[in-house]
Amino acid sequence: MHMHKYEKIWLIFGVGALLVFLTVLGISAFYLGNQPPSCLATIDPEKVDQTAPFDKPGLHKVKGKDWDYELVLVAQAFSYTPMKIEIPKGAKVKIMVATKDVIHGFEVAGTNINMMVEPGFISEYTTTFNKTGEHLIICNEYCGVGHHMMNSRIEVVDHAK
Ligand code: CUA
Repeated sequence: MHMHKYEKIWLIFGVGALLVFLTVLGISAFYLGNQPPSCLATIDPEKVDQTAPFDKPGLHKVKGKDWDYELVLVAQAFSYTPMKIEIPKGAKVKIMVATKDVIHGFEVAGTNINMMVEPGFISEYTTTFNKTGEHLIICNEYCGVGHHMMNSRIEVVDHAK
């Protein structure tokens, strides 16, 4: 088969670019760990209260993980448990939220944390709070008559009690 010289160059360029993009994507996904938020963590919505770690909502110090604390929250119409959380400044925190009933929202005002909390799934996000102060947690998915009252609070402090 005869191929024009420019056609060959173009073909090599095209295949080369594809390989470069796939390599970049592969390194980003598997080496740097940039992957979409997991929907693989599941939970029985009827047994949230009995399922670890949701049987003990709150902030827990953990060892041997990539993060320092786990912040466990249970969402239900129309509140979050716990209603107030103190987080030490600069600590890496993995937030884990599950709902006992309907779909709720989980938005931490003043940050880019904004998750949907769906029955049957655990919503997770790992972050570090670098500034002291208070953040309001609000539900931003309409979940019923008490939707507007559904909130919690994160207080970022220099030294946790
Ligand atoms: Cu929960 Cu709106």
